[in-house]
This record gives sequence, structure tokens and C-alpha cells, in this order.
Amino acid sequence: MECAQNILNILKCPNCDNGLYIKDKGLKCDNGHFFDFAKEGYVNLLLPNQKKTKNPGDDEIMAKARDIFLKAGYFEKLRNKISEMYDFSYKTVLDAGCGTGYYIKDIASKAISTIGVDISKSAVKIAAKNDKKTFYIVSSIFDLPIKDNSIDCIINIFAPKPQQEFQRVLKNGGFIIEVVPGKNHLKQLKETIYQQEFKPIVEKYAFTKFEIMASHKLTYVENISSISDYENLLKMTPFWYNGGQKILNNLNLMQITFDFIINIWRKK
Ligand SMILES: C[S@@+](CC[C@H](N)C(=O)[O-])C[C@H]1O[C@@H](n2cnc3c(N)ncnc32)[C@H](O)[C@@H]1O
Ligand SMILES: [Zn+2]
Repeated sequence: MECAQNILNILKCPNCDNGLYIKDKGLKCDNGHFFDFAKEGYVNLLLPNQKKTKNPGDDEIMAKARDIFLKAGYFEKLRNKISEMYDFSYKTVLDAGCGTGYYIKDIASKAISTIGVDISKSAVKIAAKNDKKTFYIVSSIFDLPIKDNSIDCIINIFAPKPQQEFQRVLKNGGFIIEVVPGKNHLKQLKETIYQQEFKPIVEKYAFTKFEIMASHKLTYVENISSISDYENLLKMTPFWYNGGQKILNNLNLMQITFDFIINIWRKK
């Protein structure tokens, strides 16, 4: 999307923290730092010294697979639950670690402003093509180019959890909707890949400096209807590089458990 004034008001330059304004098909600050809009409409605010690798975050294979798998509907129940959880109509919502924008796109039709941030350029490129209402930024969520106390709600789904940075950008009383995998998430796949009984990792609460308001569970089973859906599911997870590639040809179509924990955290 075009960067609307209410979004501009809350962005800051990743170099010098000054405000940003639109100039010559990009964003500029008073110190002359300039970031051009990509043709898809997003902006890359990730500085070279903030990168640990050449292309950080999900690579193109993972991002494309995630986009196709999510669009096939297997996560629709989770998306609907999140979108229906709150009245987002007067809210500025940030999706931190937005991937291909599947969740924030749904909220965009209800909220005042929506912003998606991900360190993966491949994922943000897809997100910006999919969703013309949200403003997408390539950046690390550990160093957000967003002013203090400017966000009403952060959604953080299967993504890293920079709690200090979330505290800084959230308004007082602002909240986080966090989604983490439940203990049975994709358990049939894990058992097939690791060929042993699956011992789940017990998730610890991540946002210790926030107040927990609610915790919901969402569990359902889906028939994976084609080998290509399996391939995309494997490619969007670390399984692909840990034996997933090898087992694809021997997989029988099966039922897969989707298991999520949705935590709501309030800024104290
Ligand atoms: C498992 S994916 C989830 C994506 C999306 N929330 C979803 O559920 O479809 C994790 C995402 O976090 C992103 N990510 C990893 N480290 C990051 C960082 N430091 N800053 C921003 N995004 C990051 C990855 O590029 C990837 O898109
Ligand atoms: Zn600057």
C-alpha cells in the first residue's frame, strides 16, 4: 500500500530515529537517510549492520511454501479465531514476524492501520503483493523502526519474541496476541520424521514483563489432501532441512493435528 499519514506518524528512521516523510518514491528523514519503496509497495528499513547473514529470515523456498500452504486453508480456524478475538476497529495493529501476511491481512479490513514487519525480504515481498491495505516493512523486530508508545496491539505468531522492544512500541494498556505451538502440533509429522514417539517441548511463557490476561487452546485435525500440500508444509518448517526432504516420497496421506496456544499479554 501507499504509506498513509497515520502510518508515517509512527515510523522512525532506523539510522537516526528521526521521523520519516515521503520523498521521491521513498521515505526520507531530515538527516538525508533515504529508503525507496519497492515496486510491490513495501520498504526495506533493515540496515546492512543489522544483518547477520546476506538474506536473513525465511528464505524464498520457505516463504513461497508458507504462502501456498496457508492459502490452502489449513490455518483458517486459527486466523478466524484471532480476527474475531477483539474489536480492532480503532486500533493500530503490528504483526511482528508477519511472514506472508496471512493473519494481518484479515485484520486490515477492520483496523485503522496495520503494519507487517519481517526480516525476510522474500516473505515481505509476497505479503505486499497479497495485501494492499497493510504497510509492510523489512526489518528486524528486535530493532523496530517504530516510535515509542504508538501501537495498540501486536500479533506475534510462531515468531521470535523481543519483549523489551514490544514494551517500547506498545501504548500503555496495549496488548500482544501471541501464538505458540501446542504440545501436539504436527505430531504425526514429527513422529514420521524422527521415527520415534514424539516428546513435546513444554512451552515456557515468554513475556515475563507483561501481565497475562488470557490463554486459549485451539486444536483440530485436518486431512492433508495432496502430496504437494505435504511438500509445502514440510518446506515451511525446519523439518525440510532435517530429513523432511527424504521422507516426502514415502509419506502416506494422513490426518495431521494442528494445536495452538493463544496467549494475550497486557503491557503493565
Ligand atoms: C515460522 S514463521 C511465521 C510467519 C507468520 N507469523 C506466520 O505464522 O505465517 C517465522 C517468521 O519470523 C521471521 N523472523 C525471524 N527472525 C526475525 C527477526 N529478527 N525479525 C523479524 N522477523 C523475523 C521469519 O523470517 C519468518 O517469516
Ligand atoms: Zn535518519
